[in-house]
Amino acid sequence: MNEESFFHLATVQDSFCNTGVISCAGPRDTVCVSMVHINFFKKIIYGLLAFVLFLTICVWNESKKGYSVSLKLESKNFQLPRNLQVLARKLGPKPVYVATMADSPRGSSVPGGAKDRPQTERYNSKVWDEDSSSKNLPPRLQKVRKNYLHMNKYNVTFRGERQPKKLSEAALLCQLASRVKVSMIEATDFPFNSSEWASSLPQKNIRAAFGRLGTCAVVSSAGSLKSSSLGKEIDSHDAVMRFNGAPTRKFEQDVGQKTTFRLVNSQLVTSAKHNFLQDSLYKEGTLIVWDPSPYHSEVPEWYKKPDYNFFQNYKQYRKENPDQPFYILNPKMPWELWDILQENSPEDIQPNPPSSGMLGIVIMMSFCDKVDIYEFLPSKRKTDICYYYQRFFDSACTMGAYHPLLFEKNMVKHLNQGADEDIYLRGKVTVAGFRSARC
Ligand SMILES: *[C@@H]1O[C@H](CO)[C@@H](O)[C@H](O)[C@H]1NC(C)=O
Ligand SMILES: *[C@@H]1O[C@H](CO)[C@@H](O)[C@H](O)[C@H]1NC(C)=O
Repeated sequence: MNEESFFHLATVQDSFCNTGVISCAGPRDTVCVSMVHINFFKKIIYGLLAFVLFLTICVWNESKKGYSVSLKLESKNFQLPRNLQVLARKLGPKPVYVATMADSPRGSSVPGGAKDRPQTERYNSKVWDEDSSSKNLPPRLQKVRKNYLHMNKYNVTFRGERQPKKLSEAALLCQLASRVKVSMIEATDFPFNSSEWASSLPQKNIRAAFGRLGTCAVVSSAGSLKSSSLGKEIDSHDAVMRFNGAPTRKFEQDVGQKTTFRLVNSQLVTSAKHNFLQDSLYKEGTLIVWDPSPYHSEVPEWYKKPDYNFFQNYKQYRKENPDQPFYILNPKMPWELWDILQENSPEDIQPNPPSSGMLGIVIMMSFCDKVDIYEFLPSKRKTDICYYYQRFFDSACTMGAYHPLLFEKNMVKHLNQGADEDIYLRGKVTVAGFRSARC
């Protein structure tokens, strides 16, 4: 796999002067040689003029390099990764896209989607474009996507039909509600129907345990949650879902302190370095673990060959924490969702399961009347810092490499019932729960 870092683009900015001088050394020498016969005073004048000319050419060359990247990304009002924005700003005069992002009306129309909310128009061009395509990705991530398409680790054989026309918000919600079955593994599901598993799996069905939930919050782990002061707002929801190792302690101000559900992936449960069995972080709320199965395989097939064999640790955790509900997501659900993502995307999406974030959103849509999703679509605080609790940079965290994140974001944006202003200022998207689907 090509490991060329996206950040090499940003280093152009730092090495700007050096590379300029080196690459232009040739032309300058040529100019000097042609001036030997001119008298000394004239020589200085000409020399200066030549130097100014050479500088202009260098600067122009460098800016062209920078712009070719930023302009490509800018098409369709796509939000630039911040480091590119900084780069583009540092290179010469005010870039064109600044004007485009702030002023121009949206180019793409949304057939069937009633998104004519004049008061939000000024924010429309500043938030995620629901028609983003892989062409908007930085070159490195385009390559990664192609590699995954080629690899097809989960033996995806998509036989569904692409939607010939973009579905309306309501029709999309109906598809999700009717085709994505959010269920947990139960003690009656073969091969979990042994006495050994019966003592491990929770007795109570997850829906029976929670009943009908009203407003719910899904809190991403995005770095842009930092300094958001969303904590109180998040905690005011009936239920809050968080992901993997995202902490609340020391971050209450920005992400709140309530945790009703925590969706964790099987890798976290399995690998020793995450300390899943001991860490107190996981001891609050209801846990749900998910593991990718081969595309549309049945539960027994997956059971024999899970992506990460988390079963032993799961049973161990249950033994040590018998009072904390801990469910296993039915592995068919991610692929039911993946099919809908693929059908509603005009190009091939990564043949890997959806991200934990997207799974969590759909799980909550099946439990709650209304779901507020925080920083899944980037706000004005957008950053390449992956998580609010770590200092780790990668644009792949926003744009997606392994997961078809770009297409997930397109879908979530399409389902948004809130204002673009809320996305831009608070990173908040509001979607309706499955119960309000009218099919
Ligand atoms: C995909 O198919 C190949 C060949 O049939 C098989 O060897 C491989 O184990 C399958 N992968 C999964 C994840 O089932
Ligand atoms: C588990 O389910 C399978 C398939 O339904 C059945 O054949 C088997 O007898 C069950 N095992 C137990 C212990 O109930």
